[in-house]
Amino acid sequence: MTALLINKLTVDHGAIRALSDVSFEVPEGKLAAVIGSNGAGKTTLLRTLSGLKSPTSGTARWNDRSMVGVKPEDLVRRGISHVSEGKSVIPELTVKENLLVGGLWRNDKSDTAQAINEVVELFPRLGERMSQSANTLSGGERQMLAIGRALVSRPKLLLLDEPSLGLAPLIIEQIFTAINDLRKRLNMTVVLVEQNAISALEIADIGVILNLGELVASGPAQDLMNDPALRSAYLGY
Ligand SMILES: Nc1ncnc2c1ncn2[C@@H]1O[C@H](COP(=O)(O)OP(=O)(O)OP(=O)(O)O)[C@@H](O)[C@H]1O
Ligand SMILES: [Mg+2]
Repeated sequence: MTALLINKLTVDHGAIRALSDVSFEVPEGKLAAVIGSNGAGKTTLLRTLSGLKSPTSGTARWNDRSMVGVKPEDLVRRGISHVSEGKSVIPELTVKENLLVGGLWRNDKSDTAQAINEVVELFPRLGERMSQSANTLSGGERQMLAIGRALVSRPKLLLLDEPSLGLAPLIIEQIFTAINDLRKRLNMTVVLVEQNAISALEIADIGVILNLGELVASGPAQDLMNDPALRSAYLGY
């Protein structure tokens, strides 16, 4: 089943057109990697899908219901979780408190403890630092916490904006592997925005390449990786 359906989405920031007529689909449980260099419109896309930005035209639908014009908190209630660029944690709160915040929107509170245990299993480092305040974590640990917090809300659709930003290659591989394992286990649909094209496409089912707001290509991730023209122009190898 097609879970996420984006059709001719156009988004403007004042006079700047950040996305122009972008269309692609992500079936349920699949991972789409959205690739593109600085200013391609990746963050704008995720902000539009999580209700933080209204499109100028076009549609975005999640499980047959429009996501456009819906309040961000209502989208969260519909199972959509957004991890924004720049490590979205609450610095004054401890690791544990940040994870609990992830459960606030959930209807079934008893499940929160179980979800936190799963996050700790995924990122054991967080488990060792549960009572430490988030502003004392390293960059990588903070990124794990931001992802962990989103996972505690047990999203059906996870929107990840450059989770690899500022992280060492080894940690990037760990985080990508963890995201991939978890989405398969929980049947999560994931939109992963990345400049780290190859690592993202390697775990993706679908690749979407944006350039200056335009869709350059979309399709099976393997096909994009094997396309010599796309490789040299957009994937950097
Ligand atoms: N609030 C805003 N006001 C004006 N212009 C904006 C705003 N947000 C984004 N833009 C512009 O829209 C375009 C797309 O920006 P966006 O942040 O979506 O790109 P991106 O692909 O996420 O880039 P990066 O890889 O650098 O994060 C850019 O030209 C940017 O300057
Ligand atoms: Mg961005």
